Amino acid sequence: GHRQDLAGLHVLISAGGTREPLDPVRFLGNRSSGKQGVALAEAAARRGASVTLVAAHLEVSEPVGVQLVSVSTALEMERSIRSLAATADVVIMAAAVADYRPSTVQPGKIKKDDVGDTLTLELVKNPDILAGLTAVRRPGQVIIGFAAETESDQAALLALGRTKLARKGCDFLVVNRVGWSQGFATDGNAITVLDRSGAIVTEASGTKMSVANSILDVLGS
Ligand code: C5P
Repeated sequence: GHRQDLAGLHVLISAGGTREPLDPVRFLGNRSSGKQGVALAEAAARRGASVTLVAAHLEVSEPVGVQLVSVSTALEMERSIRSLAATADVVIMAAAVADYRPSTVQPGKIKKDDVGDTLTLELVKNPDILAGLTAVRRPGQVIIGFAAETESDQAALLALGRTKLARKGCDFLVVNRVGWSQGFATDGNAITVLDRSGAIVTEASGTKMSVANSILDVLGS
């Protein structure tokens, strides 16, 4: 076992998928279940860390033994993560954050009769929470990002991961392939962890809990 190898560390984790409102009853969302992030939170807590989980619309039950902060939109997640990161030794951004949000939120329900046959949505870019964190990181703080991509070719997947790693400035990037029946909402996962230089430090597959423990192992390396 890993015993209490993360004791004394404050680990901040984001999980789930943000929802970006269109009107009071509709949103733009994604298929993230939050399972991998919740598994990370549970595993880190079992290994002795003090864990804060910023959760957006989990489809799994909340983990026990962690401090839970619930958010909905990318902007809400940004606000929470920013303030909590000030005291975190490790930040793991496992959430699927919407890249764009509707530029305006209609105060009342959008009605077919008012819109007609074609509805055009205008979206604006959300802030990149991860890139914002690495820009102001505390000395010694370890920041881990995720890259969920649909490329089926492993070399292409890793190439995308390396580009993302450089753009986001994180210490480690967890790359995983997602699709209609893989990654999101499933019980298993297969991941590759890249370090700052783009080198592979971990490859793991199995349950999201065993993958979580493999990811957390990089903190000791
Ligand atoms: O750019 P992309 O969405 O593929 O990057 C994925 C990584 O960046 C994840 O760690 C995700 O949590 C994070 N992210 C973020 N803010 C965004 C978009 C993604 O922190 N607006």
